[in-house]
Amino acid sequence: MIQPAINKFINLSMDLLKFNKNYLNEVGKLYMDVFNSDPWNEKWTITSSMKRVEYFSPSINKYGLGYLIKDKGKGKVIGFIGGVFYYYDQFTIFTIEEMFINNNLQNKGIGNQLLIEFEKILTKMKVNKIELKTLKKSYVEKFYKNRGYITNKNNRIYLAKDIKMAVVA
Ligand SMILES: CC(C)(COP(=O)(O)OP(=O)(O)OC[C@H]1O[C@@H](n2cnc3c(N)ncnc32)[C@H](O)[C@@H]1OP(=O)(O)O)[C@@H](O)C(=O)NCCC(=O)NCCS
Repeated sequence: MIQPAINKFINLSMDLLKFNKNYLNEVGKLYMDVFNSDPWNEKWTITSSMKRVEYFSPSINKYGLGYLIKDKGKGKVIGFIGGVFYYYDQFTIFTIEEMFINNNLQNKGIGNQLLIEFEKILTKMKVNKIELKTLKKSYVEKFYKNRGYITNKNNRIYLAKDIKMAVVA
């Protein structure tokens, strides 16, 4: 259980629970609400957002892992963190693919607690490093940098290519 006393401003009684497909609908809805808002302003539907978070259910993807925070009083999911394990020759990297807190409860210390608890879980699972991509020059970049995350200094670069739709004659 997450200790509410650590929470900065609000006094919620919260549980930290492992994500599974029973939470798909609720976490998918929360994901859609958060990422369709600032600073992301994306265009998720309930179908696409459920497909996205499904990835972190161990029953769907054995390399995926997700944890959610539930407000015990209201019985509602208010936050989520999830990602994927990458196994290399001598070490294991976990990439945080998604982390989000209910729009109305952000900036109250809940994300901070969630990240701390999740890092403890990964440490127990012998993960050597955590990686993630996020929005440049946003408060989210600051959020992670203030918690020890730094720009990767190894010799890898992040490349991408847009795949254009084939034109059917
Ligand atoms: C990023 C996020 C998970 C952080 O969780 P949170 O509960 O809001 O964070 P906390 O209350 O623990 O705040 C921690 C820090 O973030 C800053 N912060 C949080 N929300 C903020 C906001 N809306 N505007 C500005 N700063 C904010 C706080 O000032 C605080 O700064 P600190 O580093 O000096 O302590 C949450 O804000 C969120 O869901 N954002 C939208 C989705 C998102 O961007 N997810 C990350 C994608 S990788």
